[in-house]
Amino acid sequence: MKKLKIGICGWGNVATGLYKTLEDNRIQIESNSNTQIDIVVIGARRDNPKCDPKNITIERDIFDVLNHDIDVLVELIGGVEVARELILKSVNKGINVVTANKAVLFHHGDEIFEKANLNNVKVLFESSVCAGTPIIKLLTEELSANKVTKIAGMLNGTSNFILSNMEEGSDFKPTLELAQKEGYAEPDPTFDIEGLDAAHKIGILSSLAFGTPLPPNDFYIEGISNIKKIDFKYAKEMGYTVKHLAVTKLNEDQIELRAHPVLIKINSYLANLKSVRNGIEVETDLLGTLHIAGSGAGQESTASGVISDLVHLANSNDNFSEKNSKSKNKLINFLSLSFQYYFYIEAEDVPGVMALITSQFAKKKIGIESIVQKENLKNNMVPIVIITDLFVEKDHKDLLQTLKKLDSVDAVRSIRIELD
Ligand code: HSE
Repeated sequence: MKKLKIGICGWGNVATGLYKTLEDNRIQIESNSNTQIDIVVIGARRDNPKCDPKNITIERDIFDVLNHDIDVLVELIGGVEVARELILKSVNKGINVVTANKAVLFHHGDEIFEKANLNNVKVLFESSVCAGTPIIKLLTEELSANKVTKIAGMLNGTSNFILSNMEEGSDFKPTLELAQKEGYAEPDPTFDIEGLDAAHKIGILSSLAFGTPLPPNDFYIEGISNIKKIDFKYAKEMGYTVKHLAVTKLNEDQIELRAHPVLIKINSYLANLKSVRNGIEVETDLLGTLHIAGSGAGQESTASGVISDLVHLANSNDNFSEKNSKSKNKLINFLSLSFQYYFYIEAEDVPGVMALITSQFAKKKIGIESIVQKENLKNNMVPIVIITDLFVEKDHKDLLQTLKKLDSVDAVRSIRIELD
C-alpha cells in the first residue's frame, strides 16, 4: 500500500471534517485507492472544542508544520495573504500542496502555479470549486481531448440553499443563518451572498478552460441579496425560476466572464438542483454538453475533494504541475453583452403610469416582450412585471437610474434572463 504523510494547516470546520472523514472512512479509502493517508502534524492557532485530534502533534505556529517530515501540506486556513505565504513556502521547500482555498487561487493562482512548476511540486485544488464535486480534474484531465466552449454553473452552495428555500416560501435571513449553522457559508457570509465566492470559483474554471489570468481582470459580479420572495412567484408564472449563475464562455477569441442572479427556465437541468447542490454545464466539441452536480459546500463534501487530491498525488510519480499553458485570452467588456431582462417595478396606481414607464423603455429603443400589472399592494402601489427583448448591458444601468428617479415609482429591480 502507498503511504502519504500529510500536515494540515487550519483546524476549523473544513479541517476537522477532513480529520473525521479520514478516521471514519479509513478502510474504504484504503481499499478504494490502495493509499494510506497519515496525518503527521496539525497547524492550529487554537484547539477546536468540536474535535479532539488525539495524539497528533500540534503546532501553534502554522508555518512550523513545514519543518516536519511530510509529503503534502494541506492548506485549510482560508483567507488570502497568509495562505499565499504558506503555500509559497511549502512549494519553495519542495513540499506538494493540496488546498481548498478558492480566494488565494483567484488572487495569486498564476504566481503560485509558476513557483510550483519551477520547484517541480504540485498544487492540487479539487475542492476549491464545488467542494468534492469533481470539476477540476474533469477539466484538466478527463476532457483534455475536447475544446471547451462554455462553463455555466451554480457554484455557491449557500446561495442555492437560500434561493431554493426562498422558492419554497422561506425568508432570506433565517435561511442564511441555517446555512451558517450547517457550515456551508464562508466565515464572512457576504462572500456568499454578494457573489464573490462564485466569482472566485468561475475565475479558477475560466483559467483552466481558457487561460484567463489569476487574478482575472475585473468582471461583472452581483450577489443574491436583492432577490425577493415575490420574484419567484412572478418568475414561475412565466416559466422561470431564479438562480445564481457564474459563466465563462468563449466568444470568438474573447472570453465572457460574469457571476450574477438570472432567471432560467424552470424545467432546465440547473433549475432543478435544490438546496446546497452545485451544478455545472460544460459545453464541449466532442462530448456535447456535460452535466455535473453534487453537494457544493460542507465538511464531508470538501473532505471528499481533498482526499481525491491526496490519492491523486499518491498515485502519480510524474513531475507535472497544474500550471496552465493555455494562451491568455482577453475578457469581453461586460457592458457590450446583451440580455433579456425581468423588471419588477412598484408604481403608484394612477392614470398614465404604465405609459410613463413604457415610454422610458421606448426612448432607449428597448422592446418589451410582456408587461403585466399585478394585484395592488397597500398604499395605492401596484407591481408591474416586464420582460424585455434583448438589449445591450450598457443601456441597463441608465434605464434603472431613470426608472428609479420617476416620482411615481417606488422600487425597481431587474434580473438578467439566461437564454441557453
Ligand atoms: N461557502 C461556500 C459555498 C463553501 O457556499 O459554496 C464551498 O466553497
